[in-house]
Amino acid sequence: MSAVTHVYQSRNPADLTDVVATIELGDPDTLVAAARTAKAAQRAWTDVPAPVRGRVIANLGRLVEANIDALAALVTREIGKPAAEARGEVQEIVDTCDFFLGEGRRLYGQTVPSEMPDKQLFTFRVPVGTAVVITAGNFPVAVPSWYLVPALLCGNTVVWKPAEYAAAGARALAELAWHAGLPDGVLELVFADGPSTEEGLDRALTEGLVDKVGFTGSSAVGARIGALCGRHLQSPCLELGGKNPMVITPDADLDLAVEGALFSGYGTAGQRCTSLGTVIAHADVHDEFVRRFASAVDRAVIGDPTKDVLYGPMLDARFADNFEKILGWITDHHSVHGPVGRITKALPRNGFLGDPDAGLFYHPVLVDGVRPGDEVFEQETFGPIVGVTTYTTLDEAIELANRPGYGLSSSIYTNDPASAFRFRQRIGAGMVSVNNSTSGAEAHLPFGGNGRSGNGSRQSGVWVLDQFTRWQSMNWDFSGKLQKAQMDVVTVEPDLSFRLEHG
Ligand code: UN1
Repeated sequence: MSAVTHVYQSRNPADLTDVVATIELGDPDTLVAAARTAKAAQRAWTDVPAPVRGRVIANLGRLVEANIDALAALVTREIGKPAAEARGEVQEIVDTCDFFLGEGRRLYGQTVPSEMPDKQLFTFRVPVGTAVVITAGNFPVAVPSWYLVPALLCGNTVVWKPAEYAAAGARALAELAWHAGLPDGVLELVFADGPSTEEGLDRALTEGLVDKVGFTGSSAVGARIGALCGRHLQSPCLELGGKNPMVITPDADLDLAVEGALFSGYGTAGQRCTSLGTVIAHADVHDEFVRRFASAVDRAVIGDPTKDVLYGPMLDARFADNFEKILGWITDHHSVHGPVGRITKALPRNGFLGDPDAGLFYHPVLVDGVRPGDEVFEQETFGPIVGVTTYTTLDEAIELANRPGYGLSSSIYTNDPASAFRFRQRIGAGMVSVNNSTSGAEAHLPFGGNGRSGNGSRQSGVWVLDQFTRWQSMNWDFSGKLQKAQMDVVTVEPDLSFRLEHG
């Protein structure tokens, strides 16, 4: 029997008196029960022809497009993402649906020649089964769609456990998906806290109800989910943290680099997995870059996310608390630009839009002089803070960029093609930007990381099909006799001693 363990209120982080959603958090059995329902619905959903499943995805895209204003406004209200970014986030769902609706008419397998006559080989993509998808709330609807859309298109059923602090957005997306024509049980929405989710997942895996896990969140939780899945011989799709570097070479366009650093460091209040961590500026341009960057940070407008601001509040109280801890990593050898801490009437910010005391707003922090060994250099910070360090040779810059051991996104500002390609070759990140922000990947390129950023799984584009399908091979012998592979094979007799005459 599933039970309600407690009631949770999702609040507007720009105005903490505004309760956006009240939800009931389930216990571990809630997740197990949902997995049982989704498992039971899976065979019938697989039997729906893929082009028809593609129509459901097309309908979802249309519904999301028709509801873009309402959904974007809800995202802004619930997690404080500025209006323009929230619209972009909803657009990313539409883009994902546009991409995958056609996949319903492809989902190609191959015909493969046999080594024997009158025998044909084939490959088929087979849905994995039932997936449990656990998502963070910084991209409360776009990143879930990266899992849900291809998983459903490929014939899987899904149990989705979103972040509770983004519950309203999650419920809205699920409702749009249900109205797009998904049969009952194909998409189950579950609200639960972290410990209940992990326990429920363990039980559901043990009962054989789960065939794939997708997880977006912290590296620490991702490691636990990976260990749990590993015990059940499963390889999850993990999309974890980042410490994304930006290298600035001596010949770079510094104003362009400042613009990119401002958006990727402080956009979304630094709460993207792709947010900029450390700027690695060549010693010759370091001072000038920092001067221009600091001035851009000073001029940026922060505040009410319904307005045209660089960033709004932290996503939720737990992220504000975590950021307070991260600010404690700043040490004596750092040189810090601007005030540090929460924006309040007592510690104000020039040009702030709205009432800072109503929400969870933080000053942008620019920390120069970070170096290997500093927590602020080595760890993901997930807030509006950017570190700066210097280098003299490109090899040294790349070593610094790789040093924290994450490997999600990375960026280089340069006008030298050789530096760009050298960086691409040696950087450990799954994603590389040249003269562009570390954040803002397009929805149809492979998205994902290495090292502490993930287990090498990729989302988005055709590459995600390998997460939600497995290859099945088939051979069909129509020779009327048993032909044994590797043994009953026609041989050719070459003359390998043959040489051309020197002429
Ligand atoms: C995330 O923060 O989990 O590339 C995803 C980007 C966005 C997705 C970020 N399209 O910044």
